[in-house]
Amino acid sequence: MRLLPVVLVMVAVAYYVYTPLPDSIEQPWKVMLLDTGFRTGMHLSSLKTWLGFGHHMEYIKFMVEFSDDTLLRVLGSDSGRWPGVKVSDITFAGIPVRVYEPPAGGEGHLRRGVMFIHGGGWTLGSAKMAAYDMNCRMMSDELNAVVVSVEYRLYPEAHFPVPYLDCLAAAKHFLSREVLTRYAIDPERLAVSGDSAGGNLAAAVAQEISADDTVSVKFSVQALIYPALQALDFKTPSCMQNEYVPILYRSFLVQFWLQYLAGDISLYSQCMANNHSSLQHSKITPELRARLDWTVLLPPKFKKNYKRVIVEKGSQGAAKEVPGLLDVRASPLLAGPEVLAKCPRAYILTCEYDVLRDDGLMYARRLQDAGVKVTSDHFEDGFHGCFNLIAWPFEFDVGKRALRAYLDWLKNNL
Ligand SMILES: *[C@@H]1O[C@H](CO)[C@@H](O)[C@H](O)[C@H]1NC(C)=O
Repeated sequence: MRLLPVVLVMVAVAYYVYTPLPDSIEQPWKVMLLDTGFRTGMHLSSLKTWLGFGHHMEYIKFMVEFSDDTLLRVLGSDSGRWPGVKVSDITFAGIPVRVYEPPAGGEGHLRRGVMFIHGGGWTLGSAKMAAYDMNCRMMSDELNAVVVSVEYRLYPEAHFPVPYLDCLAAAKHFLSREVLTRYAIDPERLAVSGDSAGGNLAAAVAQEISADDTVSVKFSVQALIYPALQALDFKTPSCMQNEYVPILYRSFLVQFWLQYLAGDISLYSQCMANNHSSLQHSKITPELRARLDWTVLLPPKFKKNYKRVIVEKGSQGAAKEVPGLLDVRASPLLAGPEVLAKCPRAYILTCEYDVLRDDGLMYARRLQDAGVKVTSDHFEDGFHGCFNLIAWPFEFDVGKRALRAYLDWLKNNL
């Protein structure tokens, strides 16, 4: 009977690790392991805050960095695969950036330029993280591009608009004649890109630069990987369908948005119920709501039988307590058609098993309606985060296909 406690612990662990997953997700046990690590981090960090030790995001930050550096850099990744790429850590307009220069071409040979903004819920990640570092080296080498990866400030040190302003300042510096000349970059071949929260920042920066007459050289394309684009509707079909799909649960999405917008975490349950954007909020005009009306903007295939949830009378004052909620610099999907019309050509990658799927699909549709050329690339077996899961031990075929499609699009359109 000494075995009983062991069996009970094993059952408990299996119960904790096991997450039901959609059938088309490959290597489900690997997704479950990744998810367990991430979830444990989120849970322990909440527990730590609850017990009063340090900030609740510090622990998960540590976990992400630890697993990244130990597993990926030491065991899996091999940055030596791109020996010709020169890497330097410098600053652009005071913002730390990591610059990747491809092997020199001939004299007078201009290269492409890519500004890359990493994801991680405006809280996690870094340009130096192995997963991002590898992708940027590969991009620089394959595209013959000078890649600038931005080390913008993160939560809890910074809230909106600081991360956005950091990226914007770095972008303006990148687009200056002086920098383009120094790095021999073709001013006609400039991209801004990012994944997840980085896709949010890239879309926002693209809008601002397109509209700013004082910036003469503009981005020619934007490439957004499963971007987060709005915080008014947390009950989109993709939010509901993928509520419990690793690794970005709907609850984490709401938590990350509240942190970014400096909203009180006590608003969490209001946001989960869409009460934060109820009809009571006069500033959320019908026109604004129409900009994220998925019942109109999504094809039937994605809408399924989900119902749009707009609460009649939610909590009082949520919009007041979260001032950035209606700011287009935080939610690029809220921009009007006249702003979208000026935006650069777009590549938007979405994954079926991702709460952010519909943000990306709606933005693709709205840019198209505004006359912008868009490639909407949807991965039926994709899940949030797969773009970075390309190195052992956490490598996924869909991640490799997503990265390949993205690189090929840039090769053909930048
Ligand atoms: C959201 O608003 C509805 C209607 O006012 C209310 O019944 C419900 O309790 C609210 N939910 C939360 C989580 O506050």
